[in-house]
Amino acid sequence: MRTAKDFFAPLAVGAPAPLREIPARPSRAIHFFDPGNEKMAAKVPAMVGTVDVLLGNLEDAVKAENKEKSRLGLVKIGQEVDFGPTQFWTRINSLDSPWVLDDLTTLVPAIGDKLDVIMVPKVQGAEDIHYIDRLLAQLEAKAGITKPIQVHAILETARGVANIEEICAASPRMQGLSLGPADLAADRRMKTTRVGGGHPGYLVRQDPTDGDIEGLRTTYQQDLWHYTIARMVDACAMHGIYPYYGPFGDIKDVVACEDQFRNAFLLGCVGAWSLHPVQIKIANKVFSPSVEDVKHARRVIAAMGDGTGAVMLDGKMEDDASVKQCKVMVALADELAA
Ligand code: GLV
Ligand code: MG
Repeated sequence: MRTAKDFFAPLAVGAPAPLREIPARPSRAIHFFDPGNEKMAAKVPAMVGTVDVLLGNLEDAVKAENKEKSRLGLVKIGQEVDFGPTQFWTRINSLDSPWVLDDLTTLVPAIGDKLDVIMVPKVQGAEDIHYIDRLLAQLEAKAGITKPIQVHAILETARGVANIEEICAASPRMQGLSLGPADLAADRRMKTTRVGGGHPGYLVRQDPTDGDIEGLRTTYQQDLWHYTIARMVDACAMHGIYPYYGPFGDIKDVVACEDQFRNAFLLGCVGAWSLHPVQIKIANKVFSPSVEDVKHARRVIAAMGDGTGAVMLDGKMEDDASVKQCKVMVALADELAA
């Protein structure tokens, strides 16, 4: 079975060996639902097989008075639904909330054998992962659960970003990291008021002096999240875990959503969150390499023979390093086709 280590191997030359072997299962769209919302919960069985990950959300977006209802709704879904090829995840409440202990002590004995990954919000440092790791080990042992539940941390505080390396390395349970742009923006005191994506005011302007053409002052919107995504991708590659873009709140703006997801994909992310079924389609498309790209990658690999030296293909120089990049593309295509 391919693992995260295989996925990153072509990128990890010279890096320390990844810490663990995580089975590589596609997770292009992590689709969020509120298990306490009857309408949403009723749709879950029919979504199995249509999306890589179904995540029952217990944290933000669930009102305080509904926390217990959502938690119990998740238990019911976990007990009743056969998830087949779809992964079953949850996002628990944050460690500084009054709900998280009940989340874990309720969920693990009841559906710990079904849960693939627990997403932990607002992770600040390794100590948060150590706490979760210990608690899960105790609850799993008590419940006789033999397959360790994996842990996914959301990067949504400046301290979390500063401690990114130690968070990735904090436990063999670590499966991946997601960017949490909304909370991170607030924590950093950025001047955004939206959930992920760009901002029309964050741009570069072309130098207007070129050619003296009146009114020629082209602007380009910049990716507000480039720095954090790049940092997250490096840390995940080094530690053999998976990086994800998080939520995109403007459901109607499918173009900007696709652009944001694609930027994340091109930088190395393997998936993103979906807040509406329309975003599942976008993520599945964006986080799967295109047929043309895979065809080209296979052509480069074939042309390079034993992988050493260099060849000219369509006027471009290809060498060992291009083969490594092409193998990333082909490995992902094979993994998604499996
Ligand atoms: C997600 O939880 C975010 O804060 O963006
Ligand atoms: Mg958040």
